Amino acid sequence: MTTVPFPELPRGFRFGAATAAYQIEGAHDEDGRGPSIWDTYSHTPGRTLGGATGDTACDHYHRYPEDVALLRELGVDGYRFSLSWPRLLPQGTGAVNPKGLDFYDRLIDELLDAGIAPAVTLYHWDLPQALEDRGGWRERDTAEAFAEYTAVAAERYGDRVERWITLNEPFCSAFVGYAEGRHAPGAREGRGALAAAHHLLVGHGLAVRELRAAGAREVGIALNLDRLHAASGRPEDLAALRRAEVLHNEVWTEPLFAGRYPEHETETWEGLADGPWRRSGDLELIGGALDFVGINFYRPITVEAAPHRADDPAPRTATDIGVVEPIPYGTRLTTMGWPVVPSAFTELLCDLNARCPHLPPVWITENGSAEADTVTPDGLVHDGDRIDYLAGHLAAVAEAVAAGVDVRGYDVWSLLDNFEWARGYEQRFGLVRVDYDTLTRTPKDSYHWYRGLITAHRARTEEPAR
Ligand code: FCB
Repeated sequence: MTTVPFPELPRGFRFGAATAAYQIEGAHDEDGRGPSIWDTYSHTPGRTLGGATGDTACDHYHRYPEDVALLRELGVDGYRFSLSWPRLLPQGTGAVNPKGLDFYDRLIDELLDAGIAPAVTLYHWDLPQALEDRGGWRERDTAEAFAEYTAVAAERYGDRVERWITLNEPFCSAFVGYAEGRHAPGAREGRGALAAAHHLLVGHGLAVRELRAAGAREVGIALNLDRLHAASGRPEDLAALRRAEVLHNEVWTEPLFAGRYPEHETETWEGLADGPWRRSGDLELIGGALDFVGINFYRPITVEAAPHRADDPAPRTATDIGVVEPIPYGTRLTTMGWPVVPSAFTELLCDLNARCPHLPPVWITENGSAEADTVTPDGLVHDGDRIDYLAGHLAAVAEAVAAGVDVRGYDVWSLLDNFEWARGYEQRFGLVRVDYDTLTRTPKDSYHWYRGLITAHRARTEEPAR
């Protein structure tokens, strides 16, 4: 077993693990759950690798006691998971499904019994299909429906949930889902994606209000902000970088933390930027104070100018902004094809802190790596590359903390191997291996390493008993 030194985080720093409902639960048509856009998308031929769906996934819906036992053994302080909106409100609004409510009651109580603090994501991409049929996030009504669903969840679970995350990676919902079409609902639109981005933010603002009204303890959002580098100092690459900053980061950070829309949005999207979906009062709604901001980080992105879009006969998507993202040479890539550059994580956190004077405390809500795991004849998974990745990125967080960034905790992605969206089941991010034929769970070396890190952290930072 690899011996990789443990990065040192400050006293009180919290360690956790993260998952998402559609990626692990399965039971897609059980106990009254309605369909989501990911059911529809994954069941459409040609959309996911090998036609993979989340119908069964890790069968967490039935095996959650075993998964909570794995978390307990891991020694985490908290567990970040998402609620399935169509399990709670099968049509997105209106009738509430009591069996769906009961499931998360059981999960939350099981976690509390194990001494693990529940952290709930309200929206990890599984929009009820009934709402997509009425326009999905292109429509403001979906933001209102999200508030209704949030109120149901907050009322039911608010007494037991420590942290609430309104949205997970709205960048992916809006731009990967409605512009690139690589995620559900698989649309390729310019206006639709920009309207979706705005309505996601409005939905976030409305959800924050509901959570506050219900007396929620801590409220935040999880963003996949990106550390972007220009491929060269050529003026066209620097201009592409400017546009990519708007697309990846400022669409979210400016309204959330600076009370304005991005300064360079018109040069990024021309006339589409300031669409009729914006209403007066929206910035105040979106910018309501948060207790933390969650950051999901995996890899840095290099940006290069692409041939001018006006010559492109393809549909004008919001991502078609004259930007390409080549993979740099000379860095190790995970099986996702993502370069491993931990120093970019420190840079991202420090830069964000410097740029946003009103930034709330930071929580790392996702970080981890997909690797080519193999089961050796001893039945184990010796995933040294994943341990190196985690050690490097936790050390990068420790550096950001030392430089003055207020980072409170870290949730590793992911507890289990799971349904990796359009990439199906081939990408394995788990600390625990899942055999998809038998659904057997096997802790990998990285699981034992992370447990050792948590134990060492407590031993080093907790007051000795008198
Ligand atoms: C993030 C998602 C998460 C998982 C990781 C690998 O973008 O939030 O569900 O797929 O990537």
